[in-house]
Amino acid sequence: MLLLAEDETERNRFERQFLHMQKMEAIGQLTDGIAHDFNNLLGVLIGNLDLIRERAAADAEVVDLVDAALQAGVRGAELNKRLLAFSRRQALQPETVEVNTAVSDMVRLLRRSLGERVEVRLVCGAGLWPVLVDPVQLETAVMNLCVNARDAMPQGGVITIETGNAAIDALYAAAHEELAPGDYVVLTLSDNGTGMPPEVLERVFDPFFTTKPVGRGTGLGLSMVYGFMKQSGGHINIYSEPGHGTTVRLYLPRALTRTARSAPVPPLAVMPGRADGRLVLVVEDNPEMRRVAAQQFADMGFGVAEAENAERALAAVEAGLRPDLLFADIIMPGTLDGMDLADRLRRDRPGLPVLLTSGFSERMVHDSLWREGGPAPPGEYPVLSKPYRKDDLQRAVRQVMAEAGQRGDA
Ligand SMILES: Nc1ncnc2c1ncn2[C@@H]1O[C@H](COP(=O)(O)OP(=O)(O)O)[C@@H](O)[C@H]1O
Ligand SMILES: [Mg+2]
Repeated sequence: MLLLAEDETERNRFERQFLHMQKMEAIGQLTDGIAHDFNNLLGVLIGNLDLIRERAAADAEVVDLVDAALQAGVRGAELNKRLLAFSRRQALQPETVEVNTAVSDMVRLLRRSLGERVEVRLVCGAGLWPVLVDPVQLETAVMNLCVNARDAMPQGGVITIETGNAAIDALYAAAHEELAPGDYVVLTLSDNGTGMPPEVLERVFDPFFTTKPVGRGTGLGLSMVYGFMKQSGGHINIYSEPGHGTTVRLYLPRALTRTARSAPVPPLAVMPGRADGRLVLVVEDNPEMRRVAAQQFADMGFGVAEAENAERALAAVEAGLRPDLLFADIIMPGTLDGMDLADRLRRDRPGLPVLLTSGFSERMVHDSLWREGGPAPPGEYPVLSKPYRKDDLQRAVRQVMAEAGQRGDA
């Protein structure tokens, strides 16, 4: 009887989580469409206002009017940026970041800007792993969370910022919605403010959801942090007790750099996929071809990271990028070709699905381009010959992924 009851709650929980994920996905698609259109509209608006301003430079009154309109346009663009952050389409520049250093740097600014009624305490964990995250966006996120905490403590109070390592195993991940197993640095922000009732907590990530009066809140703070965490391969979790306070946890993915010093990741263009989408690393020296391939993968629901040669792709992976599929041109300028790259990546991740492509026919690739004494036997990697249709690519990808899945190492 007891077991049955537990099963039931378990099922309810999964159903609720599933519905929540579906909702976030739907809102994401909606805001993405709107934000895109708005970007174009605002671009036309701001561009033309700038032109008018130049032409009217002699007339101070007109310049003032145009400036007011420009200001509104720029503010619109700012809001739009946060919408794009929510739908995980902002351009991120992830770097290896030492969280303790980053947060310590922020605390002075926070203390100053939050006012003297708010005390900020910092508890730094020892031996923290480096993380791979966009440092500017991380700062914006922490700022947003602290402003929320301040707003929840009108009489003043304490914000405690804590850092620590957390290795999330499969069991724990299974019990926590949208958290993938792996190593994370957890950044915890607690306040002893008003807390939130469940019906508020349920909606806090919705864009434009706010309980604050007009002019005080935009309702975009937490949705932006949510999207930023998702896009960074991390996670946000909120625990709140009405009347007692709120604890927000940011799970930042550990950077897998070999060097202890922080090295900036070569900025690969990363195009986020759907929530369930896997990440493909597209390596191709021809920019037009690369863009086409990236778009084709995006249409299939993949998140896409692009690199123009094998060296850059390798550097990104060494800095912590974890693709679920490698799609690489075989012949590329540089010291490594597509097969070398595949060999190198497979050394650390034997199960990584690989699909190569080449302007030469598959036969020619295997007969004449295979280097003598190469580490992998010929035929190890499937080759899709160019030019290929989208259908061909789709079929080849499905096969490669299915094979990896069968070996149990996707
Ligand atoms: N630390 C907190 N304590 C209590 N309520 C919070 C906290 N953080 C967020 N909230 C609630 O979540 C809502 C959404 O937050 P957010 O997305 O940052 O938008 P905004 O701050 O503009 O309202 C807030 O209006 C508030 O009701
Ligand atoms: Mg806010």
